[in-house]
Amino acid sequence: MSKNFYITTPIYYPSGNPHMGHAYSSIVADVFARFKRLEGYDVHFLTGTDEHGLKIQREAEKKNKDVKIFCDELSEKFKKLTKTLNLSNNDFIRTTESRHHESVKAIWNRLLESGDIYLSKYAGWYSVSDEAYYTEDEIIQDGDKKISKTSGSVVDWFEEESYFFKLSAWQDKLLNHYDKNPEFISPKSRYNEIYQFVKGGLNDLSVSRTSFKWGIPVPNDDKHIIYVWLDALTNYISALNFPNTDDPLYKKFWPANIHIIGKDILRFHSVYWPAFLMAAKLPLPLKVFGHGWILSDEKKMSKSLGNILDPLEIIDKYGIDQLRYYLLKEVSLGNDGNVSMENLKNCINNDLANNFGNLCQRVFSFIEKNCEGKLPKPSNLAVEDINLINNLVKKVPDLINDMNRQDLNNYIKQVVEFSFEANKYVNDLQPWALKKTDLNRMNTILFSIVLQIKNISILLSPIIPISSNKILDILNLKNEDRLINSISDIDLFDHDKPFQKTSILFKKIDDDN
Ligand code: MSP
Repeated sequence: MSKNFYITTPIYYPSGNPHMGHAYSSIVADVFARFKRLEGYDVHFLTGTDEHGLKIQREAEKKNKDVKIFCDELSEKFKKLTKTLNLSNNDFIRTTESRHHESVKAIWNRLLESGDIYLSKYAGWYSVSDEAYYTEDEIIQDGDKKISKTSGSVVDWFEEESYFFKLSAWQDKLLNHYDKNPEFISPKSRYNEIYQFVKGGLNDLSVSRTSFKWGIPVPNDDKHIIYVWLDALTNYISALNFPNTDDPLYKKFWPANIHIIGKDILRFHSVYWPAFLMAAKLPLPLKVFGHGWILSDEKKMSKSLGNILDPLEIIDKYGIDQLRYYLLKEVSLGNDGNVSMENLKNCINNDLANNFGNLCQRVFSFIEKNCEGKLPKPSNLAVEDINLINNLVKKVPDLINDMNRQDLNNYIKQVVEFSFEANKYVNDLQPWALKKTDLNRMNTILFSIVLQIKNISILLSPIIPISSNKILDILNLKNEDRLINSISDIDLFDHDKPFQKTSILFKKIDDDN
């Protein structure tokens, strides 16, 4: 089995400030990328910015800026965000880069050669904000405007000469692909939604525009600009050096294992993208996972509604691991989830500060004060020690399964359960009370609990990488021992080397902060 794994996030429209929805999409993908690395995979994780199209051109014009300079500034903001979110991406692609232009032109030429592109006239409704076409059935009258039923964005009537992609010709092949690959679109509810949509019939897709200039020109007909979604979707292969299909990166990582996206852009990824790829005679990604929306006050977070929780403010105040943990634990992946400051505080306090953090702190400071900071060697393990350790070790295959099915919430629930169990174990067995009466037993309990803390930290490392690694650093655990496989190793500790000094791992959030 190949040990390579390619995962992508959507590339962001860089307009405006990044909000919690953007942060969420990236963090989710980052967790899966990090987990596959824990499993020993060679992972390629891509993110970037989607910079072409009328929307961006108009915004630059409004601000009286050169579009490229405008994009450079905005893209930089998103690049910085990847650092702030502690994403482990291997690459950051911009659609304004020449490697991407080459790739988009090459895919265009493949579609032309296969006879899937023809020149005609487009007349219909278009939303600049969504960069999407809508049929009469998909729009409604709203006062003096027409808006999309799904996104609520204003649509305008466009009429122009346009190249079309023969999407209608791919309907049966798409359905056939969905039938044969029931996990191609996940979760199941999204699969059903797309299946019905495609079954209802597909219209050919307008894939070029003549009314603006900011984009990639159609090869040999540069009054046309390539449709921004055909342009943007191709980023996933541009980053692997397509059109050079012999390139080592392309050979190693295409087809992608998974595209993580929000549900609003599912149609582009699970209908258009596979149709483009089939027409271009390229392999299809293995899975498209559509997560739900982050809501605030029960509504989708968006600039126009003014209900944005600023991820940067929260990170600044409480820390990135705290934000990651909260979003990943409390938002049910695949469904919409409401977020609030109140819930964030409760979640951090209950799970991290009072539970796992407190456990580590108690155990590490006791060892520091009573064992010269060194982890004692165990004597014979008692049945309660073996149960504690084995309960977790036995669960690892299920946990791997959860992550590979994107059942992130169940994974976290189980891991937190281990941490509650570990706290109970220490409270029940009171190693501190045995110092004068049974040193061997005390040492064995301390060893067992530190082993458990190590294993929980490894399992939490894709979710809260900074804190988990801080704990594993305290324990002097080598980097190569921080893998899923290391969990079943009973003793990877250096018993002669004192633990590193401990500082507060998870600060409790008080009501007034
Ligand atoms: N540029 C396109 C993607 C092109 S991929 C070839 C785009 N960009 S976006 O900036 O608008 O959105 C980026 C991601 O953030 C999408 O997956 C989108 O679903 C997600 N989110 C934006 N707002 C969101 C919420 N309120 N909640 C959760 N995710 C949402 O779409």
